[in-house]
Amino acid sequence: MKHRVDVMIAEAEVQARIAELGAEISARYHDTQELVLVGLLRGSCVFLADLCREITVPVSFDFMTASSYGNSMNSSREVRILKDIEDEIKGKDVLIVEDIIDTGYTLTKVREILRLREPKSLAICTLLDKPSRREVDVPVDWVGFAIPDEFVVGCGIDYAQLYRNLRYIAKVVPLE
Ligand code: PRP
Ligand code: MN
Ligand code: MG
Repeated sequence: MKHRVDVMIAEAEVQARIAELGAEISARYHDTQELVLVGLLRGSCVFLADLCREITVPVSFDFMTASSYGNSMNSSREVRILKDIEDEIKGKDVLIVEDIIDTGYTLTKVREILRLREPKSLAICTLLDKPSRREVDVPVDWVGFAIPDEFVVGCGIDYAQLYRNLRYIAKVVPLE
């Protein structure tokens, strides 16, 4: 598809918001021994890298891959776990880190899987949220930006695997 990308949320705005999220998260977990950030590959890795450097409590990382979109612009309801986290989370503070919530199927599935392992606490932080697209209710603790139903890329979010490296959030605009 021929398209162009238009800046929607500038780099400075993204970074300022991530700093705020990091401060809020640090305050919420001020007495934790270890906050386990569970990043959902691949989209969350850029946001996770930025967010973790704004957090002042002890942090570890683990990663999970759950697929819902594939390479198309349409979401499918089938959520498959392609890669699980590697460490035990029982009794630990766990924060799931996502780049974007759309229908909510991915996070609902991941949250349920992690909840069964009895973490001390389980919360969700997402950089972007498209509330108008939600099909299943999932409790989200921190949202960077709520956005309208536009196809967006950047800060880890892809279109056909590209544009994850953009330092800003952009809108994909179809041409012709
Ligand atoms: C995208 C996005 C979220 C998920 C949101 O991931 O990064 O993980 O879809 O969709 P949902 O709320 O409708 O479930 P994608 O499957 O495209 O994989 P990626 O992170 O590797 O790009
Ligand atoms: Mn993803
Ligand atoms: Mg994707």
